[in-house]
Amino acid sequence: MRGDALRLPDVNADIRIPSEDDREQIARVLATSLNFPVENALARSPTFPLQDMRCAYVDDRVVATAAESPFTQWFGGNDLACSGVWGVATEPERRGAGLASACLGRLMDDARRRGTPLTALYPAVIEPYRRLGYELAGTYDEHRIALDVLPAIDTHDLPPIEVADAERDQDEIMACYARWLAGRNGTIEPDAPFWRARLIERPWDEWHRAVVARDDGTITGFAIFTRVPDTSGHLSFGFGLKCTMFVAEDDRTLRALLAYVSSYRGLGRWLGWSGPPNDPMTLLVGTQAVTVADRYRWMLRILDVRGALEGR
Ligand SMILES: CC(C)(COP(=O)(O)OP(=O)(O)OC[C@H]1O[C@@H](n2cnc3c(N)ncnc32)[C@H](O)[C@@H]1OP(=O)(O)O)[C@@H](O)C(=O)NCCC(=O)NCCS
Repeated sequence: MRGDALRLPDVNADIRIPSEDDREQIARVLATSLNFPVENALARSPTFPLQDMRCAYVDDRVVATAAESPFTQWFGGNDLACSGVWGVATEPERRGAGLASACLGRLMDDARRRGTPLTALYPAVIEPYRRLGYELAGTYDEHRIALDVLPAIDTHDLPPIEVADAERDQDEIMACYARWLAGRNGTIEPDAPFWRARLIERPWDEWHRAVVARDDGTITGFAIFTRVPDTSGHLSFGFGLKCTMFVAEDDRTLRALLAYVSSYRGLGRWLGWSGPPNDPMTLLVGTQAVTVADRYRWMLRILDVRGALEGR
């Protein structure tokens, strides 16, 4: 709990919602600051949700950004609106002038005004966010298991796995996810445009794939993953399956999805998925075969204390 009020420095820049003409400039600030290829940022730029972004302008040029995704965060079966912050970036030459804080502060004010009680983010650096009232609140682990040690599965009579079709499957995928996360704590639920652009279709990522398990006509699980290079095997073009989502509502679906990922064995080296440290999937095998490949602590800030407590 903060003992004093938040005070943001006065900044010498105009902070506003960007316009259509600014997409390329935003992409360049993000690529430079967040260290990813500018072609990827430009390819993604048509999908930037401008209304959910705040930019700092100096001489009418974008020099800093902050963006949010309107998420729902689940706590013990209760859902709370949560502003999921991403794309916080300031051009290297403009840092230390309060620009990132000003952009994010504007997002926070607007979220509070529309009644969103929570905001959360994955910090690359802690201090700027701590100053704005965020604090470390939870852990997101990326678990990994070698495909070779997955249990052998008899696929007879299990739900078939097929490539997801956004048009046909999106509503059902979202419904399946909503049922699955009602029993989880702190898990995020994206909105429909996020599901479509960033999870199911992801047109800028040629390694991406989304598959669904359909049991008796209903989607009961799905996996959304990308292939990442892993040359630790006997061939130089091996890869791992890194899942953004690995969701199974029941044991039959879990076994069907595991059999599917096992079929990548050989060039495919491992399955990676994210979840809390005590994720039930870590019980898959009786040995220490599940490792933590990455651990990312996330930060939370309560924007509306009454709303947050009543909502839980
Ligand atoms: C992190 C980043 C967005 C900060 O931008 P900025 O415009 O310089 O931030 P602000 O001026 O609003 O800084 C706010 C406070 O955080 C501090 N801060 C900024 N960057 C910091 C860093 N890398 N490490 C520690 N503290 C930092 C500032 O000193 C300032 O505190 P102060 O006023 O007490 O000095 C910018 O450095 C950046 O683009 N970094 C690369 C991309 C990145 O890591 N983005 C965050 C992803 S979660």
